[in-house]
Amino acid sequence: MWTHIPILAPQIAQLLLTRPQGTYLDGTLGLGGHTRYFLNQLGSQARIFGLDKDPHALRMATERVNDPRLTPCHAGYAQAPQVLAQHGVHQIDGALFDLGLSSYQLDDPSRGFSLLREGPLDMRFDTTQALSAADIVNTWPLDELTRIFKEFGEERRAEPAARAILDARRTQRITTTTQLKQILQPALGPQRARVHPATQIFQALRIACNQELAQVAQIAHVLQTLLSPGARGAVLTFHSLEDRLIKNQFKALVQQGGWKLVNKHTLVPSHDEIQANPRARSAKLRVIERL
Ligand SMILES: C[S@@+](CC[C@H](N)C(=O)[O-])C[C@H]1O[C@@H](n2cnc3c(N)ncnc32)[C@H](O)[C@@H]1O
Repeated sequence: MWTHIPILAPQIAQLLLTRPQGTYLDGTLGLGGHTRYFLNQLGSQARIFGLDKDPHALRMATERVNDPRLTPCHAGYAQAPQVLAQHGVHQIDGALFDLGLSSYQLDDPSRGFSLLREGPLDMRFDTTQALSAADIVNTWPLDELTRIFKEFGEERRAEPAARAILDARRTQRITTTTQLKQILQPALGPQRARVHPATQIFQALRIACNQELAQVAQIAHVLQTLLSPGARGAVLTFHSLEDRLIKNQFKALVQQGGWKLVNKHTLVPSHDEIQANPRARSAKLRVIERL
């Protein structure tokens, strides 16, 4: 019932799948859209390790892909070297990281990711993790909330938004997406543009809850540890914070020597792809190769 359309799948397959019988990492398996596309292009001896923090997504991907060449693993991609080592794999022929959340997670109200849907303030990718967005909103101090709204949401009204939350939680526990949206409204003002004024605050909470940028900052290390010579790493980012982190990590690898950028500038989806899948709108692809 849930869907997620893989972004730039043919282009990524062409750039990444340099060895038809190779071993690959899909660091963010999601519903397995990219992996399914890749397996259709790969040989019978190929393998893909599909990692995801979300046990529900993993279960759905395993059913949908339904292919013995896929090994699904419940883990964050920063742990990929250790997870693959447990399977006796120390070198791979390519890796994909499709960052952020899937359409399925956004569309499911029970996950609490979308401010457009009434639901619990959850936002955990990994539903076995203790910390939820509700814990952050109800317990973190003013300066920490202000910091994450600024750093992870690039929100201009970070402090007024954090103050509104502290005022509200004196009398009530904040438990739902709609409640948070209403609490933030006086601090953020009415909706003027296409995007809702609380969008950046929701993004910041999601990033903080899942420690997303700390994971993104590990991608170069994962590539350095796992990629064999000639293998490539591809990263799809969806906002400037992620893209900057990847750009800088790739730059550092190239400067260190033994790596080259496959595409000098980011690749972006075509107008037609964005028409067919509006969530592709902000996607940017960077690819690096180990020499
Ligand atoms: C954009 S979706 C991937 C969609 C997938 N490429 C497809 O075509 O179906 C991102 C996925 O990454 C997962 N995720 C986010 N951060 C992660 C991390 N640090 N490690 C592993 N998975 C992560 C999310 O749970 C989500 O399922």
